[in-house]
Amino acid sequence: MKLLLVGGGGREHALAWKIAQSPLVDTLYAAPGNPGIARHARCVPIKAEAHQELLAFAQRERIDFTVVGPEAPLVAGLADRFTARGLGVFGPTAAAAQIEGSKAFAKSLMKRYRIPTARFETFDDVRAAIDHCQGLRQPVVVKVDGLAAGKGVTVCQTAEEAAKATSAAMELRVFGDAGKKVVIEEFLHGEEVSFFALANGETAVPLGAARDHKTVFDDDRGPNTGGMGAYSPVPGFDAAAEQRVMESIVNPTIAALAKDGMPYRGVLFVGLMMTGEGSDPKVLEFNCRFGDPECQALVVRLGSDLVPLLLAAARGDRLPERVAWSPEAAVCVTLASGGYPERYPMGLPIDGIDAAETVEGVRVFHAGTAERDGKLVTAGGRVLSVTATAPRLADAIARAYAAAARIRFDGVHYRTDIGRKGIR
Ligand code: AMP
Ligand code: GLY
Repeated sequence: MKLLLVGGGGREHALAWKIAQSPLVDTLYAAPGNPGIARHARCVPIKAEAHQELLAFAQRERIDFTVVGPEAPLVAGLADRFTARGLGVFGPTAAAAQIEGSKAFAKSLMKRYRIPTARFETFDDVRAAIDHCQGLRQPVVVKVDGLAAGKGVTVCQTAEEAAKATSAAMELRVFGDAGKKVVIEEFLHGEEVSFFALANGETAVPLGAARDHKTVFDDDRGPNTGGMGAYSPVPGFDAAAEQRVMESIVNPTIAALAKDGMPYRGVLFVGLMMTGEGSDPKVLEFNCRFGDPECQALVVRLGSDLVPLLLAAARGDRLPERVAWSPEAAVCVTLASGGYPERYPMGLPIDGIDAAETVEGVRVFHAGTAERDGKLVTAGGRVLSVTATAPRLADAIARAYAAAARIRFDGVHYRTDIGRKGIR
C-alpha cells in the first residue's frame, strides 16, 4: 500500500524508520519530513498545517493510509477531513483529540467518569481564578486550557506566583487564545511516567511506558523543553503497574469517550504521576499522539510490525491482546541547538552522524535538520535524537553517549544524565 506520514520531527523519523520496514508498505511518503526521514520515505514539501494541500496530495497520489504524527493537525480536524473524503487515516477526530486540545475538557471527563487525577477547578474569569488560588494549599499548578507546545503549565510555590501565572495566561494572553480558560489544580508528588496505549474506539492495548526528561539541564534543572531525552522500559513500572493503569485509567477513558459519542481511535499518551502509597497512578495530562522523544525509545524496542496495529486502530478492527517488545533497554538523548529552549541559531553544519551510527545498537533520528547545498545543517531547537539499545539500561546509556560525543555542530548541548534515574 501507499502510506503518507504527516510531520517532520524526531518522533516522525522513528515512525518512518519503523513503518518503512513493514512488508505491507510499497511506498512511503512524508509531509514535510526531514533529511533523516528522506532515507526511508519520499518527502513532499507540504506542512502539517496545510490540510487542503495534504488532502489534495493524498487524493492525487491515491494514498491508502495516512498516519498523523503531531497533535496540532489532529486537534484542528485533519483526521475528520480525511475520513469525510473516504481516506484512511490514523489519529483521533477533532472531538476526541480535545482530550489534549482542552485541559478543561480532559479534566471534566475525568471527573465525571471518576478517572484518578489531581483535584482542580476550571476558570474563565481571571479574578475568580486568582481569588481561588489565595485559599489553596501551595504549591498549585496553573494550566492554560489549550495547546501551548508543552509550555502552558506553571508550578507555583506561592499565591503571588499563581496570580502572576494566571494573569499572564488570561490577561496578557502569552499563549494566545489557549489561555482563555485556565485549570488550577493540586500539586502531585511522585515519579512521572509516560504511558502509551493504542485504541480502536472501543478497546485498547498497552504500547509500553517511557520516562521523559523535560528540563533543559541535568538533575531536572532549568526551564522545560519539548523533551531532552527518554528511556524505556521504566524500571519499577512492571506488568502489574501497567495492568493497573489500563484498568483504572485507559479502559475507563476509552469507554467514556465512546459513551460521550466521540470514540477514540489512535494513540493515547497518558502523562502519569505515580503517587503515594502503592504508587497509585494519577493522570497529569492526556495527549492524542506519541510522545517526542518517548516514541524514539519505544519504537526501537517494538518487535511487531507497526502498520497492522495502526490500521486496526484506525479501522476499529480487533486489536491484538499483546504487542511484541524486545526485552532490551532503549535510551534517546536529544542533541539541542545552543540557546534552546530560548532563542537559538539555525543553519549550522552538522558532522559525525555516520561515525555515531557505527556505535553498536545506535540509530540517529533527525528532528530539526535541513539540507543546504548538499550539506546537513541545523534547522530547529531539538536537532537530533541519538537512540541506543542494549540488553541493560546502563549499556544503552553508555552507547548513546559514546555516539553523541561523535556528533558536532556549533553550540550543541545535551543532558548528560538521561536514564540515570533508571539505574539507581
Ligand atoms: P502537563 O503538560 O500537564 O503534563 O504538565 C507538564 C509538566 O508539569 C508535567 O510533566 C509535570 O512535570 C508538571 N505537572 C503538571 N501537572 C502537575 C501536577 N498536578 N502536579 C505536579 N506536577 C505537575
Ligand atoms: N515528551 C513529551 C511530549 O511529547 O509531550
